Amino acid sequence: MQSLIIFASGRGSNAQAIIDYFNNDSGVEVALIVSNKKDAGVLQIAADNNIPSLVVDKQSFNNSSFADTLKGYTPSLIVLAGFLWKVPDAVVKAFSGKIINIHPALLPSYGGKGMYGHHVHEAVIAAKEQESGITIHYVDEVYDNGGIILQARCTVSAEDSPDSLAQRIHKLEHFFFPRTIEYMLESK
Ligand code: GRF
Repeated sequence: MQSLIIFASGRGSNAQAIIDYFNNDSGVEVALIVSNKKDAGVLQIAADNNIPSLVVDKQSFNNSSFADTLKGYTPSLIVLAGFLWKVPDAVVKAFSGKIINIHPALLPSYGGKGMYGHHVHEAVIAAKEQESGITIHYVDEVYDNGGIILQARCTVSAEDSPDSLAQRIHKLEHFFFPRTIEYMLESK
């Protein structure tokens, strides 16, 4: 059995897509969902799917024992799906090459601190870009910096709003994120 741990701060549509994708795969389970927000939609998704969840505050998240808590779940991958805190260096070191993130733009453009959610799509539209997309990448000690695993592109039209672009990006995410995870698990 290969285990995944998902970190998420928001509504959790990517977490849902990952759970659904592996639902009929007896070899992969989502063992834990971690959130930094006690009212995040992703926690309801965890409850609905009988997946253990953990709400962390800054202190416990940054405590050196947090990596040990995660080790207890022996994850093959830790998946950041809309998680807004920087992962502590101790966790990055403990799970080197095993933490991945999804970013709703084509890195290295539109990444870095403060570039999340609607801020990303607003910046892409303000710059009159004709395409955007998603980037799935390894997590290292620097925001949005680790090696790129997969990028997928979509068009941006002059009529797009941050909302309509976000919807198009979510479609890409929901298709490619579970499949990229599956590919990574199979190539280990
Ligand atoms: C996604 O667009 C992801 O790329 C970004 O945050 C969003 C999370 O959406 N990092 P959801 O909570 O999975 O619906």
